[in-house]
Amino acid sequence: MADRQFVDGEVVYPSEEVIAKARLKDWDAMARRAAEDLEGFWAQEAEELEWYRKWDKVLDDSGKPFYKWFTGAKVNIVHNCLDRYQKSWRRNKLALIWVGEPGDVRTYSYYALNREVNQFANILKAMGIQKGDRITIYMPRVPEIVIAMLACAKIGAVHSVVYGGFSVDALQGRIEDSQSRMVITADGGWMNGKIVRLKDTVDEALKRCPSVETVITVRRTGHEVRMEPGRDYWYHDLIGLPIATGKCPTEQLDAEDPLFILYTSGTTGTPKAILHTHGGYMVGIYTTLKYVFDIQDEDRWWCAADPGWITGHSYIVYGPLLNGATTFIYEGAPTYPYPDRWWALIEKYGITILYTAPTAIRGLMRFGESWPKRHDLSSLRLLGSVGEPINPEAWRWYYEVIGGGRCPIMDTWWQTETGMFMITPTPVVPLKPGSGTRPFFGQEAEIVDEDGNPVPDGEEGYLVLKRPWPAMMRTIYNDPDRYVDQYWSRFPGKYMTGDSAKRDRDGYFWIIGRVDDVIKVSGYRLGTAEIESALVSHPAIAEAAAIGLPHEVKGNAIHAYCILRTGYEPSEKLAEELRQHVREHMGPIARPEKIHFVDKLPKTRSGKIMRRVLKAQALGLDVGDTSTMED
Ligand code: PRX
Repeated sequence: MADRQFVDGEVVYPSEEVIAKARLKDWDAMARRAAEDLEGFWAQEAEELEWYRKWDKVLDDSGKPFYKWFTGAKVNIVHNCLDRYQKSWRRNKLALIWVGEPGDVRTYSYYALNREVNQFANILKAMGIQKGDRITIYMPRVPEIVIAMLACAKIGAVHSVVYGGFSVDALQGRIEDSQSRMVITADGGWMNGKIVRLKDTVDEALKRCPSVETVITVRRTGHEVRMEPGRDYWYHDLIGLPIATGKCPTEQLDAEDPLFILYTSGTTGTPKAILHTHGGYMVGIYTTLKYVFDIQDEDRWWCAADPGWITGHSYIVYGPLLNGATTFIYEGAPTYPYPDRWWALIEKYGITILYTAPTAIRGLMRFGESWPKRHDLSSLRLLGSVGEPINPEAWRWYYEVIGGGRCPIMDTWWQTETGMFMITPTPVVPLKPGSGTRPFFGQEAEIVDEDGNPVPDGEEGYLVLKRPWPAMMRTIYNDPDRYVDQYWSRFPGKYMTGDSAKRDRDGYFWIIGRVDDVIKVSGYRLGTAEIESALVSHPAIAEAAAIGLPHEVKGNAIHAYCILRTGYEPSEKLAEELRQHVREHMGPIARPEKIHFVDKLPKTRSGKIMRRVLKAQALGLDVGDTSTMED
């Protein structure tokens, strides 16, 4: 690998030390093996996990694009995350180290985590939750979010985690769509020294969600909240009940039984519920985390995302536990109380691998080198990046200042839909700053033009994936037609990612950005439609269009173009009110950077807003083909 000839751009090679430590030394050999025998490769990985019953078939593509993996097998992801360790030395290993923003600390061994998951699973069962029931989890970053997810999975209930930074409308829409019977929440969480009042948001959302029978609330912040008799229970009261014993059998499920749904924004319309299953998802994230971040027993792994996003599902909760790793979770803001909070945590807890988003790096970079320089970061051996393209300045800073020039950066490209890393290096792969390098074992990616034909290397086009993978989404919950339509119909036989990208002459992939109506703000995925509907719910707004424009720290920032109803006048006060309105309805991340008052929006003759025209205008670029635009 190291003597490979590169023709394009800067290459950063792994050191001898990194190569010596890496469990997988020969990337090419593994890539070749997986390319030649996709099913054999994945079957071998699956053999490393425990199954109640083995599969009849590794990949069943008879109903494609509704692919199935490990059909005929009986399994439960929780068995492999917790149960199987209880008889080995690993029961005494730390599964979870958690630090709250105010500085409180809690740790769970694999034994303790298993016990509390069992206790909570018994409560869920006692409350009548059954296999297949949906449960919405809306929580801050506390250990109980992990426990709640695992307890659901254990009994075959389907969790639907809604990011705690979302607000009423987003929460309500997701509860309604999933027809959840239960909501698990907390009174609040700490962020930037303030309480985020989650239970209040749940109360507000539930005014319009008749499917919910029960709300279980974890006491985190301790402030007064309203408890509705007959509906609301305190987590800690329930866990103390005699029925909440520390033993609970793990439900033996089919490999293709649903594990969770997770809502994400897509092209037009409401967010869609991406469905993942027990068997294939388990094998996919176990394998990717093992090879890409090379998790070993002495590691302390910190994925600094929120469990409420796919990154958290796959690589805070399930992936690390499947690998028997110690995972670290910090509740609050990276800059609270000072901009060295993260660096202090790395030093204090001896974190060996840090996985975060470029926006976080850029945000911390602003405070200068003196903050990280105050801390001993020598425990770090690998770094990771996800969520958006990493710009060269941020890459350099992360590599030199945080990683001390020792730690390769694993730039992992993937999506809620893919469930697992798809384009990513492993520690021994030579890096090019800003590129996720090449597809993971067994995958083939391609850049195609409008008609689906491959474009020459170096040219921009649509990024598509050509081979199925075990952690792939199975469908959009309750909307299989939309699944086929959005991912598989534009380029038949190929999975459309929604991203544009280039491949260079060395076969390295460079992601450019979304080509649909998705805006990546600070790595978070938001839909223009959701922002626009929050805007038009304000009495002053007749029509609105939202676009993303480049922003130094956030990657993209939301700019909203609004047409006022008669009787309203543009003003800075109104603009601020609108920004606040979106924040209240959707959450702080959706707050527009700028509101532009306009008389007209560019539209096609069929009435669709042409956001790309707005964007080109704002950037001073050529607006391109406007033949479909009304006059
Ligand atoms: O545009 C790509 C960007 O994030 C999108 C997926 O967003 P989401 O489903 O929220 O999942 C984010 C975390 C997996 C992709 O379509 N993206 C993700 N990772 C990268 C990236 N863009 C560039 N480089 C990455 N490493």
